[in-house]
Amino acid sequence: MPKTAIVTGAASGMGRATATQLVKEGWDVLALDRVATEFEAHGETVRTTAVDVTRRDDVRDAVAAHVAASGNSVSLVANVAGIYPPSNLADFTEDLYRKVFDVNVLGVLNVTAEAVAHMESGGAVVNFASVDAFTVSPGQLLYGASKAAVVMLTKELALELAPRGIRVNAIAPGWVNTPGNEATGRMAAAAASIPLGRVAQPEEIARWVSILGSPDARFMTGETIVLSGGNVLR
Ligand SMILES: NC(=O)c1ccc[n+]([C@@H]2O[C@H](COP(=O)([O-])OP(=O)(O)OC[C@H]3O[C@@H](n4cnc5c(N)ncnc54)[C@H](O)[C@@H]3O)[C@@H](O)[C@H]2O)c1
Repeated sequence: MPKTAIVTGAASGMGRATATQLVKEGWDVLALDRVATEFEAHGETVRTTAVDVTRRDDVRDAVAAHVAASGNSVSLVANVAGIYPPSNLADFTEDLYRKVFDVNVLGVLNVTAEAVAHMESGGAVVNFASVDAFTVSPGQLLYGASKAAVVMLTKELALELAPRGIRVNAIAPGWVNTPGNEATGRMAAAAASIPLGRVAQPEEIARWVSILGSPDARFMTGETIVLSGGNVLR
């Protein structure tokens, strides 16, 4: 029986690429997104279930329903859903603060809590942080802070879940060829400043979700891997 993976933010960008990668590898994928949509992945139709990750009851219901229907436990969670509106001290609002932290931080906690309730030893969680957790991007005040929180909660959760044999790691992408970045019109200029000379493709970031979820990474937990083509070096 295929193992079950949960992917959030699966309707677009790296979430979609992650769901596609996992389907290719034979996983049973529960694809969650605020938006209900469907797309083709290696001959399969992936349908996203409309769930807002900030609503814990809805996350709980969707995960429990899938587990009951599949008869599987959950082996892998990819917390990809995130929002990145610009903000700075002069223009931030309390509402924007809540939105950014609710989706990027509370969303990770909600999905992880409800997924690990159905997870056995050997399971893995992969969170999406950002290079903005480590370096300052102008105009990304709330986003950078929220992704720094993801890096830290990845460490805390790693410690808390280690006794159950569940690993928690994160990925911090730099520039990726996603619809959101495409819309900025700044990708070509960004590529010129990246030591490896290009932005990443969503598929090569998604591959790292599989690697971190695989037995090859069985001794790694609490880490955040920077994938920036050398643009951000720690
Ligand atoms: N694009 C980049 O270059 C880049 C760089 C570093 C980090 N990241 C992070 O990687 C992740 C994916 O980025 P992307 O550019 O592929 O994203 P994207 O904007 O293409 O897709 C994000 C998806 O998340 C969904 N989503 C948003 N809020 C949600 C909610 N409350 N509940 C459920 N789903 C919700 C959206 O509907 C969308 O389908 C994000 O966490 C982002 O912060 C992106």
